[in-house]
Amino acid sequence: MHRFGSPGRIMTSNQSDAGIAIARPSDLDTVRRIVQTTISGIYPLYYPSGVVQFFLEYHTPDRILADIEAGRVYLLKADAAVVGTGTIRGNEILRVFVLPEFQGRGYGSFIMKHLEEMIFRTHRIAKLDSSLPAFGMYLKRGYKPRAWRKIVTSGGQVLCYHEMEKEDVQGASR
Ligand SMILES: CC(C)(COP(=O)(O)OP(=O)(O)OC[C@H]1O[C@@H](n2cnc3c(N)ncnc32)[C@H](O)[C@@H]1OP(=O)(O)O)[C@@H](O)C(=O)NCCC(=O)NCCS
Repeated sequence: MHRFGSPGRIMTSNQSDAGIAIARPSDLDTVRRIVQTTISGIYPLYYPSGVVQFFLEYHTPDRILADIEAGRVYLLKADAAVVGTGTIRGNEILRVFVLPEFQGRGYGSFIMKHLEEMIFRTHRIAKLDSSLPAFGMYLKRGYKPRAWRKIVTSGGQVLCYHEMEKEDVQGASR
């Protein structure tokens, strides 16, 4: 089990350093690999094939690169490897993925903590669209469902998701 230290820097069980870094354009393939590998490995457990395909096609290289070039994409490095990623656009959190073999060790929570800290510097509310695999984590982190949405894919299968929000309660009392 991994235990985390101060934000931006973590110590893993084998005492190697790990932490968050801003992605650069040269990291595009790394971010794509994390996104595509995680969708392919995890989403078929939760969604019909047409919805999995929708997600695979949604995260295009152009979209990822535009976010990287805007300085909005973060990488989580641990044990000398990049194990996860997350993106911020304004007060929105998106594209949070941890490679399947590294899930359940606290890495997703660590990425979320970092992204929330960035957002709450300038916003009172953080918002996101929740996947089914991530819904439990978001509830635990204090996000509340605000709306229920549906997207009908080209094959007629339906992607259902919650829009969620979290208020910076600590900031409100500062
Ligand atoms: C969602 C995701 C990022 C979480 O990453 P992770 O490294 O496994 O998360 P953590 O180990 O930090 O777990 C976070 C907490 O959420 C809980 N959790 C994680 N996945 C959960 C699930 N499917 N259902 C219920 N709870 C869950 C964990 O038990 C943990 O709780 P704890 O802090 O009380 O122990 C990762 O599972 C993932 O990449 N999933 C597929 C991609 C995805 O859905 N991304 C979100 C797009 S909106």
